[in-house]
Amino acid sequence: MDIDAVLSGIKGDIGKRIFFYDRVSSTNTVALGLDDRAEEGTIIIADSQEKGRGRFGRTWVSPPGANIYLSVILRPAVAARHLTLLTILSAVACAHAVRKTTGLAVSVKWPNDLMASDRKIGGILTEIRTVGNELPLAVVGIGMNVNMQARDFPVSILATATSLIRETGRSFHREGIISEILNEMDRWYKAFQAGLWETIIAEWQRFSSTLGREVLVKTDHDAFSGLAEAIDEKGLLIVRLPSGEMRKIASGDLFILQ
Ligand code: BTN
Repeated sequence: MDIDAVLSGIKGDIGKRIFFYDRVSSTNTVALGLDDRAEEGTIIIADSQEKGRGRFGRTWVSPPGANIYLSVILRPAVAARHLTLLTILSAVACAHAVRKTTGLAVSVKWPNDLMASDRKIGGILTEIRTVGNELPLAVVGIGMNVNMQARDFPVSILATATSLIRETGRSFHREGIISEILNEMDRWYKAFQAGLWETIIAEWQRFSSTLGREVLVKTDHDAFSGLAEAIDEKGLLIVRLPSGEMRKIASGDLFILQ
């Protein structure tokens, strides 16, 4: 990975300072462990992760030399209840960046998936640490499968996950995609800071492969199906049950039924 090439493509405030590692446990763990060096806009990138993780403690497959694993450090000055929007804006940023650099029309699936041909091509894990009265430290972890060939996928996810090379038949320089992800993060984070939440949500809805479809939702204590109607101003998913009742979901797994 050529970090100078990444830096030379950076246009905004996010990505001016990058820490690069050949191998880490997880870029999110490294980012959460940074103290006063954790300035807003600092990035952790790794070529591989030994304990890459997804939501609900799941493993994120992170072999070397193929994919993108990075974490963005933010210090958002907003109430904690608005922080779900960080994941939403990051998905919008990634969808823009991948479309622009590869031409592949990736979509977003609530809450944190990037999809191509109904298979997962990337994911976002946002983790928050609050110490005393300081602004919260928000770490947005982004994983994107780029040059990972079908033979490199564990059999358990071969049918449900994909990569840019599997979708397009082409390999890509990761550096250009990373710069563009960070530039788009800068753009959409600025929109977030300016309070343009409706714009962010409208953009997410435009890229959504979830809305208007019958979905099965599984939460910690419940499972139900219904029509995915919209996301609200905080990024919660609104599902219409067969009874007509509307439910708002803050967290859970979503399966598209049709
Ligand atoms: C998910 O889909 O559940 C989220 C996956 C997030 C993976 C990325 S890779 C970079 C960062 N470090 C991690 O350990 N996880 C995130």
